[in-house]
Formats: sequence, structure tokens, C-alpha cells
Amino acid sequence: MLDGRVAIVSGAGPNIGREIAGTLAADGAKVVCADVRSEAAEAAARELVDRGFEAIAVTADITDEAAMAGLVARTVEAYGRIDILVNNAAITGTPGLLEEDLAGFRRIVDVILAGTFNCTQHVAKQMVEQGDGGAIVNIASTSGHRGKAGSVAYQTAKAGILNFTRAAAVELAPHHIRVNSVTPTQTGTPVGGRARARDDATPPKSIPLGRWGRPTDQAQAVLFLVSDNASFITGADLPVDGGNLAVRISG
Ligand SMILES: NC(=O)c1ccc[n+]([C@@H]2O[C@H](COP(=O)([O-])OP(=O)(O)OC[C@H]3O[C@@H](n4cnc5c(N)ncnc54)[C@H](O)[C@@H]3O)[C@@H](O)[C@H]2O)c1
Repeated sequence: MLDGRVAIVSGAGPNIGREIAGTLAADGAKVVCADVRSEAAEAAARELVDRGFEAIAVTADITDEAAMAGLVARTVEAYGRIDILVNNAAITGTPGLLEEDLAGFRRIVDVILAGTFNCTQHVAKQMVEQGDGGAIVNIASTSGHRGKAGSVAYQTAKAGILNFTRAAAVELAPHHIRVNSVTPTQTGTPVGGRARARDDATPPKSIPLGRWGRPTDQAQAVLFLVSDNASFITGADLPVDGGNLAVRISG
């Protein structure tokens, strides 16, 4: 489906980003695994190459303009173009409104919101220059749809991702570049799989489908949104949350 297409995945570390990178590669894309931690980027790319796919690693901080220009240049140098961007990189933090300090708040909003803007702008300019469209998926969070105590910066930034997605979708539509988001709920990782399996014994009340998310749930949704099967979908958010946003827990 994605044969010959070139994809960048930011934050391609060990969890959801790694699964997305692997899923796009298994579908035929050449994948650039970008991460601020070089060991994470390199491990992700190595795993894909070991599986027989085409991939390279790029160490880059999404908040750094020069690094994003470098990411685009390295991708074009390696593969000639960019067709797909998945803005997955993020950081989080637990302080709530009364505990968070301004520097901490700014850091989280900077990485999630300014970083996603920065990466998208550099990649979109390359896609516009190529002239034949593209697909971008931003990874949001159920925390960006609803309020809860704690993590005030993360929740605020993830809410921003939802409307950044719509704004970018409208602006880039004339260039046939589609922009959508995926909303995960709490997602077990391959690394934490065993702990999650224990948790599965007590199904979460907040998730009607009765289990935690798995990175593959998110990756399959991203694969759909970047594929031609979603060619008339832009500016949309796809919750991949087992019904978490749909349910009202009472009592
Ligand atoms: N895991 C969950 O339960 C969950 C739930 C909802 C939403 N999400 C979202 O899904 C995405 C992936 O989550 P995860 O749990 O796999 O995260 P993770 O922390 O395991 O991976 C995030 C990766 O982003 C990288 N990164 C951080 N700052 C960066 C920067 N400035 N530049 C480049 N890379 C940077 C990190 O090095 C890391 O490898 C995130 O956007 C997260 O907010 C996750």
C-alpha cells in the first residue's frame, strides 16, 4: 500500500513511535526514525533494517529549527522526497495547576506544541515543493479532550494538538496534504507488556472495551490515515481508545 513512499516518524523510541515506524515499513514505506535520543533513533532504524526494511536514523530535537531543516535535508538526501510525517514525539509531566512551575509548563508545551509546529512546517514546505501532496498524522491523547487533576501542561498542549491539526489541514488542503490526528488512551508498551497483562486481569472501568491500549492499535490507525484509503479524510481526529471518550462513568 505504501510502496516507495517515504515516512518520517518523530519520537521513534521504544513504544508507540517504534510500532508506528515498523508498521509503515512493513507496508512498504522507507522510514526515517527521528528521535532526540540518538540511541533510540538508531535502535529503531536497526530493528527495521534487521527485519529487511529500508530505514535510517536521524538524531534531532523537534524544538530546534536547524535540526528540523537537517532532518528534511537528510531524508531527501537518503530517499529523494517525503510523503508521510507522523508527529509522535512528546514529553509529559505530572504536576497539576497548583504545583507546576512556569519553566516546566513552558518546556512541555514547547516540545509538544512548538515542536510539532516546527517539524510540520519544515516537512510541509518540502511536500509543497514536491507538488504532489502528502499525509501528516499528529499523535494527540485522551488527555487533550478531557480535564483531570495533574499533568496540566501535558493536557493543555495535547488539546492544542487537536486544533493545530484542523488549522494545518485547512491551510495545506490546497496542496493535497492531509493532516489528521490519532487519540490514544493509556497504552501498554512492548517493554511494559507483562505488567499490562497483569492489569488486563482487572479491566479498566474507564475503557468500555475492557483492556488497555496496545501500540499496534495506534499504529494501525496511523497506517489507515496515511494510506490512500483515507484520501478524503483531513482535519479529523480518530480516537483509538476502546471507547474511553464515549463513556460517562457515573458514581
Ligand atoms: N503511552 C500512552 O499511554 C499514551 C497515551 C496517550 C497519548 N500518547 C502519546 O503517544 C505518543 C507516544 O507515546 P509513548 O508512550 O510511546 O512515548 P515515549 O515517551 O515512550 O516516546 C516518546 C519519544 O519521543 C522522544 N522525544 C521526546 N522529546 C523529543 C524531542 N524534543 N525531539 C525528538 N524526540 C523527542 C523521546 O526520546 C521518546 O523516544 C506521544 O505523543 C504521547 O503523548 C501516549
